[in-house]
Amino acid sequence: MTNLTNHTALVTGAAKRLGRAISLALGREGANVVLHYRSSHEEAEALAGELEAMGVHAWTVQADFADPAQTESLVARAGELAGPLDLLVNSASDFPPSTMAEVRWEDLQQQLAVTAWAPFELCRSFARQAAAGSIVNLLDSRVTASDFSHVAYLWAKQLLAHMTSHLALTYAPGITVNGVAPGLILPPPGQDDSYLEALVHTVPLRRHGAPEDIAAAAVFLLKSPFITGEVIFVDGGRHLEERERA
Ligand SMILES: NC(=O)c1ccc[n+]([C@@H]2O[C@H](COP(=O)([O-])OP(=O)(O)OC[C@H]3O[C@@H](n4cnc5c(N)ncnc54)[C@H](OP(=O)(O)O)[C@@H]3O)[C@@H](O)[C@H]2O)c1
Repeated sequence: MTNLTNHTALVTGAAKRLGRAISLALGREGANVVLHYRSSHEEAEALAGELEAMGVHAWTVQADFADPAQTESLVARAGELAGPLDLLVNSASDFPPSTMAEVRWEDLQQQLAVTAWAPFELCRSFARQAAAGSIVNLLDSRVTASDFSHVAYLWAKQLLAHMTSHLALTYAPGITVNGVAPGLILPPPGQDDSYLEALVHTVPLRRHGAPEDIAAAAVFLLKSPFITGEVIFVDGGRHLEERERA
């Protein structure tokens, strides 16, 4: 798949931030996009308008991945709107702090549902309706290192990284499944750029990235006909530094 024109994507967590940048990049490539959101209805509708103005089709669809039944029905609901899907980007995620001392079973259950089970289930439902296609799962550059301030989140992302390689093998030869592992790109929702500036010293390239850097890597993998089970770290080399120190 070297050209995305007239292909149809489902992007989760699409209304804002990285999901929005990825959706716009797909639109620029000529792909139609189903924009999943949980609570950002207005932002999702506005983005759909922007994509339609670019000359592609866009739809919005709501689901809360804390409820596995809503996850299970999402691909079918997206397909009813847009027809068969052949691109899937799992970007939605939740990033609450949790430490080893305080993490609760409920925190881990919530993370597993949203950050690991939902993308896995969406890959599975996607593969049931597509003989051929491409999937990108958004991981985190710390999947090969550690983050003791967000342990439940990171454990769920590490599981998703394993799932990504298993899914790549399971759905070959028709469907490619890859990961993009962002580093320091945007501050967590509710924080400002000082969050990033305080951490830039941990990045070998001594700067943070932009949402467009992540979108470019996702589009590259979605278009590549001969890459599967791969993870691209888009993090200015931060995973190398953290892995050496771990
Ligand atoms: N931003 C970074 O610098 C960075 C760094 C490392 C990894 N990543 C990864 O890259 C991906 C995108 O990052 P981001 O910063 O754009 O993510 P984000 O803003 O934290 O979350 C993206 C969207 O996920 C949706 N979401 C949250 N909980 C949900 C739930 N229970 N059910 C369904 N949707 C839910 C929200 O949609 P609504 O707004 O509609 O509620 C939210 O806007 C994530 O997987 C993240 O872990 C990002």
